[in-house]
Amino acid sequence: MALRVVVIGATGSVGQQTLQVIDRFPDKFVPSLLVGGKNLNLLKRLGQRYSCSIFSPWLKGSEKLSLAELEDADIMVYAASTVDYLSHMSHFLSLGKPVCLSTKEIIVEAWPLIKGFSELVRPVDSEHSALWRIGAKEPGVKSIYVVGSGGSLRDKEKEEIENATLAQVLSHPVWEMGPKVTFDSAFLINKSMEVIEAAHLFNLRREQIDIVIERTGSVHALVNFVDGSRNVFISKPTMLIPIAYALSYPDTLSLDEELTPSYDGLEYRLEQPDFDRFPWGKLGHYALELGHTSRMAFSVADEIAFECFRNGIMKPSQILSFLVKAMEDYRAVSYPESISDYFSLRHDMIEKMWKEVRAI
Ligand SMILES: NC(=O)c1ccc[n+]([C@@H]2O[C@H](COP(=O)([O-])OP(=O)(O)OC[C@H]3O[C@@H](n4cnc5c(N)ncnc54)[C@H](OP(=O)(O)O)[C@@H]3O)[C@@H](O)[C@H]2O)c1
Repeated sequence: MALRVVVIGATGSVGQQTLQVIDRFPDKFVPSLLVGGKNLNLLKRLGQRYSCSIFSPWLKGSEKLSLAELEDADIMVYAASTVDYLSHMSHFLSLGKPVCLSTKEIIVEAWPLIKGFSELVRPVDSEHSALWRIGAKEPGVKSIYVVGSGGSLRDKEKEEIENATLAQVLSHPVWEMGPKVTFDSAFLINKSMEVIEAAHLFNLRREQIDIVIERTGSVHALVNFVDGSRNVFISKPTMLIPIAYALSYPDTLSLDEELTPSYDGLEYRLEQPDFDRFPWGKLGHYALELGHTSRMAFSVADEIAFECFRNGIMKPSQILSFLVKAMEDYRAVSYPESISDYFSLRHDMIEKMWKEVRAI
């Protein structure tokens, strides 16, 4: 019997690629519920195409997605650019069902609330999928590298980075992704998020995690073991592989032959990130030092920083100080004990941070 899949964020980049994988394996997967945002035309078309339920808070007559609507699904793909469905995800996990989790903001912000179900959380972010596959969860791990391609500003001088336009920031040299994650990767904020993600998913200390740059996007992660050996994960830069692996785990699906790297793909060069030009890349380690509420504040502030940058009201250097201040402001605040407390703290954070933006 095909697994019934609920996709949160079905109209987005990862959501669409999830449906591509599902299309390739109709005997294994079938969409049961597709959740989207403002792109109602696409969502409705998808609902008709797969004869399945759809939900969007922008659909007329929709109020809230009831938890009961999830219950006949077997597996969830969470790929929305919002944490709004955390309660749905947590409910799904509490039923003992797996979640393929792409939305890094959830792992960064809400890990203490879901880590009790960590065995059911399957990483979709390509670096963490790679880390999972090459043993980051196994005993004997000494350290890991989270690998990045460097983002859209990787060859720019400091001054050019400070004055980068939205169009420059959003043109990634390797990956085609949604706007927020492309912005994050331009400033290495994305790698900072991924450092936190790795610490949470694989239970690592911050000293065990480093960032390296590999420009082709073919090397996704490295794991160093205490016996001196190293595992490296190489694949073409495509989300189809991590999505398919998360959906089919512990099996590996047979994808296109052309996805296999050629001999050239085995030659790679790792570079140290330039933290002088990209100081945002150090924030993940700092957030790990400060604690869970600061990690949450980092991600919430980043969401706001993206909106501000997009609307021309924050420059990159202001983003840096805004993120650092957010993390430091919340270092002494205890982390919420329930999902409803988490949402109310998040709401307070957003209000306070927007007030600060207005004062800039
Ligand atoms: N794209 C990648 O290659 C990639 C790789 C690794 C990790 N990720 C992570 O995966 C997540 C999604 O990234 P993406 O690139 O796929 O983003 P995206 O293309 O911007 O898509 C975001 C999705 O979320 C939906 N959405 C936003 N707000 C919503 C709401 N309130 N209710 C329901 N749906 C809502 C959007 O709906 P509408 O479009 O209909 O408004 C869209 O389907 C992010 O956390 C990102 O960091 C992405």
